[in-house]
Amino acid sequence: MTLDPAVRSIGEDFILRLPDEASASASQDEEWCEVEIDGRTRRLRFHDYSDIYSIPGLYERLIYERLGCQSPRVIAGLLRDELACRGTDPADLRVLDLGAGNGIVAEELAEAGVEHFVGLDIIQEAADSAERDRPGLYDEYVVADLTDSSSGASERLQCHNLNAFTCVAALGFGDIPPEVFAEALRHIDTPGLVAYTIKDAFLGDKDESGFSDLVERLEEDGTLCTLTRERYQHRLNWAGEPLHYVAVLAEKRKQP
Ligand SMILES: C[S@@+](CC[C@H](N)C(=O)[O-])C[C@H]1O[C@@H](n2cnc3c(N)ncnc32)[C@H](O)[C@@H]1O
Repeated sequence: MTLDPAVRSIGEDFILRLPDEASASASQDEEWCEVEIDGRTRRLRFHDYSDIYSIPGLYERLIYERLGCQSPRVIAGLLRDELACRGTDPADLRVLDLGAGNGIVAEELAEAGVEHFVGLDIIQEAADSAERDRPGLYDEYVVADLTDSSSGASERLQCHNLNAFTCVAALGFGDIPPEVFAEALRHIDTPGLVAYTIKDAFLGDKDESGFSDLVERLEEDGTLCTLTRERYQHRLNWAGEPLHYVAVLAEKRKQP
């Protein structure tokens, strides 16, 4: 295995190395990089979020700068256009950001004028890094597993009168399962705006993740009405090939 040349940007405490394109052959949920800090090198899977968020700047450097992730920008664009079309002030949105990570999605939406955010993630390091890197952005950040009804998350979400939902680059691949997505949607008032990104294969006929069936059911029973679906390049994989996702903007019209 060869690694591409080490890169360290000014102000960063780490050196990031990715396998060269010919060596990078594992599937999307097995991708890894090497990170050197103070002469010590560790191999981290891209899905080792706790470790990645704990190193300031690493997530942004890896996913956004090296691999060109577009997802937060695409979702913010869809929401911004819809709000403009409706003549709705972005400041009227009260957003639940599921799988919020270190806050890049909320930051992008804040630039579009959204002011109220509740983050929800399953790991404490996500909440800690969001506050470290984007202090004060979230009105509240809940760390919980929504499948655990004893977590107290529902009560905390309820008092925010949430009317919009985002979930970006966090569905499937051992991350957010369909039941958590469905449970999170229950906390959004109607009518509410729902914006999410998902790997294109998870919405196809051959999907086995459960998302395709869930979305179909929610659309058939009138819970969700899809307004826009856009296939786009989410990011490059570690071999430099494009990964395609679908960005969906929907309206929640009734409780499931
Ligand atoms: C690829 S990151 C995306 C972060 C952020 N949305 C972004 O676009 O930069 C996926 C996030 O989903 C979170 N996650 C995974 N499983 C989850 C679950 N069951 N409930 C809530 N968050 C989860 C991970 O901890 C991680 O922060």
